[in-house]
Amino acid sequence: MDALEINGGVPLHGDVTITGAKNAALPLMAASLLTSKTFVLHNLPPLQDIQTMKRLLTHTGAQWQDGRTITIAAETIQNAEAPYDLVKTMRASSLVLGPLLARTGNAHVSLPGGCAIGARPLNLHLKALEAMGAEISIAEGYITARAKKLKGAHIIFDTVTVTGTENIMMAATLADGVTVLENAAQEPEIADLAQCLNKMGAKIEGAGSSRITITGVPALGGVEHTLVGDRIEAGTYLMAAAITGGSVTTIGVPASFLQDTLDKLAEAGCSISSQGDRITLTAPKQLRAVDVTTAPFPGFATDLQAQFMACMTIAQGTCVIRETIFENRFMHVAELSRMGADIKVDGHTAHITGVPHLSGAPVMATDLRASACLVLAGLAAQGTTEIRRIYHLDRGYEHVEDKLQRLGARVSRVKSRS
Ligand code: EPU
Repeated sequence: MDALEINGGVPLHGDVTITGAKNAALPLMAASLLTSKTFVLHNLPPLQDIQTMKRLLTHTGAQWQDGRTITIAAETIQNAEAPYDLVKTMRASSLVLGPLLARTGNAHVSLPGGCAIGARPLNLHLKALEAMGAEISIAEGYITARAKKLKGAHIIFDTVTVTGTENIMMAATLADGVTVLENAAQEPEIADLAQCLNKMGAKIEGAGSSRITITGVPALGGVEHTLVGDRIEAGTYLMAAAITGGSVTTIGVPASFLQDTLDKLAEAGCSISSQGDRITLTAPKQLRAVDVTTAPFPGFATDLQAQFMACMTIAQGTCVIRETIFENRFMHVAELSRMGADIKVDGHTAHITGVPHLSGAPVMATDLRASACLVLAGLAAQGTTEIRRIYHLDRGYEHVEDKLQRLGARVSRVKSRS
């Protein structure tokens, strides 16, 4: 199994080009199932989750040609199904539910089950589809959804859900009548998806705000679209500069995608400037402790909580980090503690008291963002850190060791026994 070996203590300096956003790519690839015409997507990140989505498209009968630009042709859907073997490796597989149902009138999608960061049910996706006239049944671990033709509906999400908003927005493009989504997720990836769907002939207004209106159309056409950059990858590299006392410029993501995070990093003493799709962060001599509460966009992203906590382990003072989105997203705490961090967890709240330095140690990655947190900790630590099970990291970060090496980090991919 691959591991990352990091000899810490080197301040990172330089520019890093950010990859297309995984969490924009996955719904867009699912959206290709809404049309029989050619769907071309540029700036695709070569990541494990993208491979899983390609296998899912193949399973439905869609054809695709590989590369950073993918051309998908779902002329006919032979199999309106997402099988367990694929869904269990990637929860976002459930994004095909809305498109398959809207296009073919039925969908058979495996329930994802729990995952490391929490239970993550799909009840809100299903409730919304039922409101649009779908008949839903659950048996033998599968959701079966049927609707000859979905109907527009007024849907108020009980909780802000990113993939829920995406699934229903996609389904509503081909429904009869108008669908209004309230308490919708406002992530930049949702606005990107809506922009692409509108280029295909959909009628969507308000995406990127909490109220989205979709007027159904009889069919969607082909499209050529370029993905937005990955704001979480950008945030991770900026924090790599913050924790190592360096200065890094990310290229490919505008500051507006990360405003709350940048504000918190500025409060921690970092100096930040931005222009167009470039963001530069220069670290202070020592970071200051800053409290953070995760929230749906435009709040502080849960996907950057673990990385921010790594920064706070060596900040001056004590701070509180509250996780409000997922119930089990503090798994990095035990590993950070093994590296010398002083963290106490009380339910969904972590109290972090900065220590003078972290020490390298063998640690275990437990999920994607926890892995990124351990990489940051390893970059700042004195001595050698071996991060095991980095297959989690490879799901979301392209060529992480190459990008870090170019910024001056001493990092290499090695084989480990576990
Ligand atoms: N929720 C429900 N019922 C539902 C849907 C969601 O109770 O039907 C709850 C969830 O359990 C969670 C909260 O609502 O407590 C928010 O979950 P959401 O549905 O927004 O999460 P998601 O759509 O499954 C996406 C990203 C995640 C990111 C979250 C939150 C994709 C493919 N995934 O997940 O990304 O953490 O939004 O921003 O877009 C990652 O990239 O590491 C990652 C986990």
